[in-house]
Amino acid sequence: MKTLSVLIFSLSFLFISNAAFGFSIVGSPHDFSGTAWSGGEICRVCHIPHNANSGSVDVPLWNHSTTTQVFIPYTSPTMVAAVGQPDGSSKLCLGCHDGTVAIDSFGGKIGTSLVANKIGPDLLNGQGHWAHPISFVYDSNLAIADTRLNDPASTGSTLGGTVRKDLLFKDKVQCSSCHDVHNGKGISPLLRMDQTNLCLTCHNN
Ligand code: HEC
Ligand code: HEC
Ligand code: HEC
Ligand code: HEC
Repeated sequence: MKTLSVLIFSLSFLFISNAAFGFSIVGSPHDFSGTAWSGGEICRVCHIPHNANSGSVDVPLWNHSTTTQVFIPYTSPTMVAAVGQPDGSSKLCLGCHDGTVAIDSFGGKIGTSLVANKIGPDLLNGQGHWAHPISFVYDSNLAIADTRLNDPASTGSTLGGTVRKDLLFKDKVQCSSCHDVHNGKGISPLLRMDQTNLCLTCHNN
């Protein structure tokens, strides 16, 4: 009887914790707590509560080293938007994913572990990642000019709000428009929604 109630208690705890937290960074490719260099901490590789890297933009309390690499932005004859150097949180992603800054370079330490597949410096061809333009403004005017885009201000994202609210950062498309760095949805590879719906949330052709 005692074992049974313990079992029921553990199962209901498991159920409640899953329901309350859903999927998370725990156990995802961004969970570095199992490495010796992380000191067992999960958030600290990227964030710190105090003395954060003041040079970083847009992201609260950034603790990771950032990249100084110059990138070749996406261009194409049919692209309407003007794309410049990566900015905002995309620049922070590239501060591991471009392969010039070690994963374990955080909190002022210089590390040695590099990502397996590096992205860039050529963001036109992707270099190991299928290339989608990033760090440019996507607003109602762009949708009118391009004609094959949904209006981000009025189109639903299927995540509860509009495309503008849920997928854009200061009106810009960034890596995080498609990816959830904390694995909140549990959709591989760290996507915000299923790949079949992702493209047509913004594109209408
Ligand atoms: C691999 C790097 C990385 C790790 C590890 C990480 N974060 Fe983040 N976090 C980011 C980035 C990048 C952003 C910027 C927003 C975005 O891109 O979604 C962010 C944004 C946030 C925000 C702002 C609100 C939001 O969700 O956008 C909070 C709060 C946060 N992180 C908390 C945490 C906590 C707590 C942990 C540990 C459990 C953690 N993060 C681990 C990279 C990371
Ligand atoms: C602290 C370093 C670090 C930062 C910052 C970081 N990543 Fe990663 N990310 C990694 C490593 C390491 C992997 C594992 C794969 C590898 O080594 O190439 C990974 C894996 C991924 C994957 C593949 C997941 C899978 O299931 O295969 C995606 C997608 C990804 N990261 C996106 C992002 C995005 C988007 C950001 C910024 C919002 C970001 N990362 C920031 C280090 C980082
Ligand atoms: C328009 C949506 C979109 C944007 C923007 C985007 N990605 Fe991805 N990414 C995907 C999709 C979809 C996949 C899975 C299919 C594939 O690999 O082509 C993926 C795969 C990945 C992978 C794992 C596979 C691999 O090739 O290593 C990583 C890492 C990654 N993205 C990082 C990034 C980073 C960093 C940025 C910003 C510089 C970024 N992504 C921008 C949609 C996007
Ligand atoms: C958050 C919104 C958003 C998502 C999600 C998104 N895109 Fe885009 N994409 C855009 C915008 C905005 C442009 C810029 C179009 C322009 O200016 O002509 C663009 C540009 C492109 C281009 C370059 C077009 C050209 O003329 O060179 C391609 C190809 C593309 N997207 C494919 C995809 C695919 C495939 C997916 C799904 C994996 C996807 N996009 C997901 C918003 C998005």
